[in-house]
Amino acid sequence: MGKMTIDGRLVEFTDEKNVLSVIRKAGIDIPTLCYVSELSTYGSCRLCTVEDERGKTFASCSEVPRDGMVIYTNTPRLRKYRKMILELLLAAHDRDCTTCVVSGSCHLLELAQRVGVNHVRFQNTRELQPLDDSSPSILRNPNKCILCGDCVRMCTDIQGINAIDFAYRGTDALVTPAFNRKLTETGCVGCGQCRIVCPTGAITVVSDIEPVMKALADPQTIVVAQIAPAVRLA
Ligand code: FES
Repeated sequence: MGKMTIDGRLVEFTDEKNVLSVIRKAGIDIPTLCYVSELSTYGSCRLCTVEDERGKTFASCSEVPRDGMVIYTNTPRLRKYRKMILELLLAAHDRDCTTCVVSGSCHLLELAQRVGVNHVRFQNTRELQPLDDSSPSILRNPNKCILCGDCVRMCTDIQGINAIDFAYRGTDALVTPAFNRKLTETGCVGCGQCRIVCPTGAITVVSDIEPVMKALADPQTIVVAQIAPAVRLA
């Protein structure tokens, strides 16, 4: 049990595992991409960054709450950082958003719009990677992956399957089955839990894609595809 000051308000906490949970408990909206409360904390996107009274910044999802903390969640500096982070993520991402299978339910795009990104100043320098359509139920598009690792932790922490993981480093980093194999060459059981946590169109399942494929196969028919919105865990 303790108390901390968030944006000038005194907030009590009990057993919250991180500062982000205390912020959310106080009803303050803070953007996150890589945090899923049911999974282990990875702290890669840095969107949840907050500032303390000395101007020190840290990712709130990766910090344990301490009694007497004073933090700010929405300063001009933080708003600038968040905008820049989202701009960089969009820049390293295949941006065929209007025809993307998750158009309308993409968490990345929703956050970018929410923080006011209306222009991406950077070029995408990543080489396009082949899609993995080997699985009868799951389509992997590495060009839309933002390396949040949510799918990896879901596949390993919760499902215990370990079909996918991080590979390579720096700008070559990828989430892929080991040795860049196809999903069908792994223990993937097609459960689709990775799709539930994916914040972009990097992982989609057959029910997302089928209406689009039908529309493409029959040019005489105008089919309005109904894409189910991704169910995002907290
Ligand atoms: Fe905290 Fe991504 S949500 S670093």
